[in-house]
Amino acid sequence: MTERSFTGQITLDGPSGTGKSSVARGVARRLGAAYLDTGAMYRAATVAVLDSGVNLDDEVAVARAVSEAAIRVGTNARREMVTVDGVDVRDRIRGAEVTRAVSPVSAVPDVRRRLVSQQRELVGQAEAVVVEGRDIGTVVLPDATLKIYLTAAPEVRAQRRAGQLGVSDPDKIAALAQDLRRRDEYDSTRADSPLRPAADAVVVDSTELDREAVIDKIVQLALSAVPTGSSR
Ligand code: DC
Repeated sequence: MTERSFTGQITLDGPSGTGKSSVARGVARRLGAAYLDTGAMYRAATVAVLDSGVNLDDEVAVARAVSEAAIRVGTNARREMVTVDGVDVRDRIRGAEVTRAVSPVSAVPDVRRRLVSQQRELVGQAEAVVVEGRDIGTVVLPDATLKIYLTAAPEVRAQRRAGQLGVSDPDKIAALAQDLRRRDEYDSTRADSPLRPAADAVVVDSTELDREAVIDKIVQLALSAVPTGSSR
């Protein structure tokens, strides 16, 4: 069922492994809204960087590799589309190689500037949109209709990630938890657009809520938010 009365922008920020993507997609479907996964854009940029063979520590070369690639991400909540120079990279962006390299690539200011401008352009084309990332409420869309910051305890996040990957070995789960902490630390302490809740964000802790309960809560908040779509 689609609840169509929402217009505006919902930002959904927070660390990795909180179930952000499936919540964001679920909210967008319920509201008949577009959906933009900005993490997929940074991951696609990372594919371009890896394929160019440049050193990840060379910020100038990383920025150039991203500027020379055609990165396209769709906004349909029911059909994922991510291409780099016309090649479908949906599977590749979720792989270990890209996941390892994405933090340094996304910390480069010139890469962020380029992708943020693309994000604002895509958002501008939608009457109602859910945008998922790290800095959407703080930097990309500071005037969004509703800002959500989704968190969960690190152990729960590692368990959920393990479930998605079909991993049950406790050592491997501990390694996943460590990897989540490493990425959170990197994303929260970088100089440009660090991960943090916007001052006016609603913080939703999903440690003890399942996906549907989180989606319900955000849909209710969205429907009771002042519809600013017409005044912007
Ligand atoms: O949400 P994700 O795991 O797909 O994001 C991949 C990486 O991209 C993550 O390590 C942080 C970065 N990212 C970012 O810096 N800013 C965003 N708006 C979205 C993601």
